[in-house]
Amino acid sequence: MTIVDTRREAVVIRVIRREDFDETALSRLLMDAVESGASVGFLSPLSLEEARAYWVQVKASLGRERVLLGAFRNGVLVGSVQLAPAGKANAQHRAEVQKLLVLRRERGRGLGRALMAAVEALAREYERSLLVLDTQAGSAAEGLYERLGYRRAGEIPGYAASAGGGLHATVVFYKLLSVSD
Ligand SMILES: CC(C)(COP(=O)(O)OP(=O)(O)OC[C@H]1O[C@@H](n2cnc3c(N)ncnc32)[C@H](O)[C@@H]1OP(=O)(O)O)[C@@H](O)C(=O)NCCC(=O)NCCS
Repeated sequence: MTIVDTRREAVVIRVIRREDFDETALSRLLMDAVESGASVGFLSPLSLEEARAYWVQVKASLGRERVLLGAFRNGVLVGSVQLAPAGKANAQHRAEVQKLLVLRRERGRGLGRALMAAVEALAREYERSLLVLDTQAGSAAEGLYERLGYRRAGEIPGYAASAGGGLHATVVFYKLLSVSD
């Protein structure tokens, strides 16, 4: 568990398990991100049903395939991130970081950075020394990952559809972790 102090209130970052999986709160978080224009796999407007269907799949894959971290302020979900450890026999050292999300009203207070620190700590626990992720070129997340030491593997033009129409480029990042830290 990680405790971050933002706005003088403690935010707790912890693993969300099937037993305490709140699909509605997670759906609101995802819908908020999509509405903000974030490229996280969905187009705006994202309905509650569509968002719930996504989280139902995530819930089913929790365990060896995926770990979900949630950030909670006073028990209310304000952010999340996922670690997907690769399952292939030749990739037991690798994991993907997916869907870093922070509620719009909570952004700019260090939660994104704290969630990334927590997911990296988790990757070390899983002895995953190579993290990969991708994000929309030009997004706030791109700058965040660069400042956190992620290296650009490259940029793929026209990778995904933008909320406002057209296609946008995606940047693929990686980071080598020292698992003995
Ligand atoms: C990306 C995101 C998670 C950042 O969360 P956050 O809580 O605002 O991030 P932080 O407050 O920890 O800020 C981290 C850094 O990014 C910078 N940053 C945050 N928002 C920024 C913005 N809109 N433009 C430029 N820089 C920004 C901060 O200045 C900070 O830099 P520093 O740590 O060097 O001072 C949040 O904007 C978000 O949820 N976006 C929508 C979803 C998304 O795009 N996720 C990425 C999918 S791969």
